[in-house]
Amino acid sequence: MRIGVLTGGGDCPGLNAVIRAIVRKGVKEYGYEFVGFRDGWKGPLENLTMQLDVQATRGILPRGGTILGSSRTNPYAIEGGSKKVIENLKALGIDALIAIGGEDTLGVASGLADEGVHVIGVPKTIDNDLSNTDYTFGFDTAINIAVEAIDRLHTTAESHHRALIVEVMGRHAGWIALHSGIAGGAACILIPEQKFSIEKVCQWVESRFKTNYAPIIVVAEGAMPIDGQMMTKDKSLDSFGHVKLSGIGDWLAQEIQKRTGKEARTTVLGHIQRGGTPTAFDRVLATRFGLHAITAVHEGDWGTMVGLHSTSIVRVPLKSAIEKIKTVDPALYKEAEIFFG
Ligand code: F6P
Repeated sequence: MRIGVLTGGGDCPGLNAVIRAIVRKGVKEYGYEFVGFRDGWKGPLENLTMQLDVQATRGILPRGGTILGSSRTNPYAIEGGSKKVIENLKALGIDALIAIGGEDTLGVASGLADEGVHVIGVPKTIDNDLSNTDYTFGFDTAINIAVEAIDRLHTTAESHHRALIVEVMGRHAGWIALHSGIAGGAACILIPEQKFSIEKVCQWVESRFKTNYAPIIVVAEGAMPIDGQMMTKDKSLDSFGHVKLSGIGDWLAQEIQKRTGKEARTTVLGHIQRGGTPTAFDRVLATRFGLHAITAVHEGDWGTMVGLHSTSIVRVPLKSAIEKIKTVDPALYKEAEIFFG
């Protein structure tokens, strides 16, 4: 059997661990041959391939990024795109394809599965917002990076009696903000799922200052004030129709400074959350996803995705992972609220 592998969407620590596990088990146990597709769906669309064998995957377990490259190319947004992908897969003699990606990449995989392509999905996103898996790899690394930043910001905030705002990733789901904010002892956590009152935020800020402790506010990039909208960089959209978010952290700093008279500054963590070496948790999860994905190929369980349910790796329909994103449960947010102010 000849199997194609691709990584699509925003990169995330652990992608290389998945690729390594797929290839190692695929070659060792099943004697499969692999083709690496470059840069997400751009690879099969434009026939961009690379050698993918045991040698190519040596030493990549702890490396961030993806040896295959990534992009946000959407074949369904291009006239005749999916047809071209199918033709190219046929011409290359590809029997099955493993797509490692988030909501968008797996959405394309699901569309191709409906068109008869033999596809298996592996969930990936630092945002942890894919349904039907308890966690995605990359998330643990991202929150550890954010917590380290918050710990550092605490000491400088105290020295200068400032309110410091940390803007983290998360367009529609506040998982990174919630977990890093809880672990980092934030004065408040603002997430896209719950619109916030700026008056309340200022009260929390002032109450932290009263105890001689400088507040750290953790905000997800997609968070919104009660009467406001998501803040965007410009009006441009990517090929999956996403806007570029930017500005909520700066807006908060201005408002806090204006309303409380305390100096407020913002740190935007941005792509630092996605780069570098994966944590041990993410390496193990990514490795297990890879091992189970190649077994799913071996068993011909097309149109499914591997996922984590409790401590077990299971297979779920691809569609069930992308129908709706997994947002923060209000009850979990309530738990965090105890520590606000
Ligand atoms: O989906 C992952 C993610 O990191 C989001 O949290 C973020 O909004 C987005 O990607 C940013 O993507 P990029 O800057 O690569 O376009």
